[in-house]
Amino acid sequence: MSVMVEEKVSLEQLVDLLNIDLTLEYSAGIQYIQHAAVMTGAMYGDIIKELKVHATEEFAHAVILADQISFLGGVPTVEVGQIHTSSDNVEMLEQDLDGEYDAIKRYKLRIDQAEGLKEYALAGQLRTILAMEQEHAMDLTQALGR
Ligand SMILES: [Fe+2]
Ligand SMILES: [Fe+2]
Repeated sequence: MSVMVEEKVSLEQLVDLLNIDLTLEYSAGIQYIQHAAVMTGAMYGDIIKELKVHATEEFAHAVILADQISFLGGVPTVEVGQIHTSSDNVEMLEQDLDGEYDAIKRYKLRIDQAEGLKEYALAGQLRTILAMEQEHAMDLTQALGR
């Protein structure tokens, strides 16, 4: 699968791109579960709780994407994207934030691509996901003291 960065894509290309997004929702969910479990320190108590909430939200995004892919005539993937781990709390939060910034960039483009194909219901679902990714990024920047 080649990663398309153009705003104009075919429906088949959009389905392929949504499947890449789906692999990255799976990996984000797994990464948050692992990070929340290995993170230690009283100072990190609040963000550890947040990471667990993020995990369930990433899997909720995966459910939405899988349904949309199926509706558009595709087959939702079971491939999982790359997962980043560390033994350092701050590095883990940086890894999570990098993932959120990547998701925000991808979903902004994906909304344009969906609207270009008049897939307005999909675009609406992607807007909801985008808003949640921005909230995730805000939680992480706050935890990192930025
Ligand atoms: Fe997500
Ligand atoms: Fe997220």
